Amino acid sequence: MIKIWKLKAIVQKTISYLPYSNKINYIFQKFVTKAVHLNDDYFYDRLVHARDHINFFTEHGNSTFPNTCLEIGTGWYPVVPISFFLVGSNKIYSVDITQLLTKKRLKIAIEKIIESNSNGKLEFYINYIPQRFEILKDIFHNFDNMALDEILLKLNIEYLIEDARKLSLPDDSIDLINSNNTFEHIYPEILIPILKDFKRVLNKNGGIMSHFIDMSDHFANFDKTINKFNFLKYSDKQWKWIDNSIQPQNRLRIYDYKKIYQDLEIPISFETFEIGNLDDFNTIKLDAKFLAKANNENAIIQCHFVSLFN
Ligand SMILES: C[S@@+](CC[C@H](N)C(=O)[O-])C[C@H]1O[C@@H](n2cnc3c(N)ncnc32)[C@H](O)[C@@H]1O
Repeated sequence: MIKIWKLKAIVQKTISYLPYSNKINYIFQKFVTKAVHLNDDYFYDRLVHARDHINFFTEHGNSTFPNTCLEIGTGWYPVVPISFFLVGSNKIYSVDITQLLTKKRLKIAIEKIIESNSNGKLEFYINYIPQRFEILKDIFHNFDNMALDEILLKLNIEYLIEDARKLSLPDDSIDLINSNNTFEHIYPEILIPILKDFKRVLNKNGGIMSHFIDMSDHFANFDKTINKFNFLKYSDKQWKWIDNSIQPQNRLRIYDYKKIYQDLEIPISFETFEIGNLDDFNTIKLDAKFLAKANNENAIIQCHFVSLFN
């Protein structure tokens, strides 16, 4: 019988050729795969990223909090940009090539943050400024009377719908550039020019880049009969048939990202990584393209790179 993740791959591939593919994919993910719901796992995972970016900045950046921030890959729920607002950032750009954020999803994200404060959890992640939290609550209470742009303006967030290869931002203007679960969806021919433009816009006087990358097979989140390394079985040619343009997975491993950084002369000043379950890994017959590297490198399923510039 055909595996359920393959059915998902076929459906997403088909959707990717249709007009309004992102909208159709949202409906598919909402009602069929249930992958776009801001559940606790998803929400607290993003708060962890926000906490890590902010902590790195506080320890190594040019100030106690980043005044200007840029996130690439806004996605559905802007939990990380709102976290930057709560710690004091005055200008937060969030860039996406596709408009996925809606007023409804923004409300869900704000509600979840307020709820996490009510149950005493928020402060363990974010050392927020009380006045900023009050603004957030005010926004929530008046939410239905305001337009999306108006709400984002109050949160110091500018939502840019553009290609991050050519950012409409001045040189040296951003203190903290970050991304969350995004690089793994961007193939190198696009990621490299994006990183070049990040270098241009980053404040070279104490600015920081901080990127969290999830290198696991995302189909495994949906189909529990496969593991997080399943996609490493396939050759590039086979993967091209399976992969789709609405949620592409580049399958890059940590050494590939390190090579890209090295070639672009972007330092990796701090890194953390997690090796996945090796018993699962050992069930996979790796495609030849991965064989030149050690198992414990191929088995890394997530990493966080921080680059200091000064
Ligand atoms: C998986 S989603 C982001 C997830 C989100 N950061 C989160 O934490 O939930 C990756 C996003 O990157 C965006 N993206 C891909 N290529 C891009 C590009 N060249 N410029 C800007 N955004 C891009 C996609 O449209 C997509 O919304």
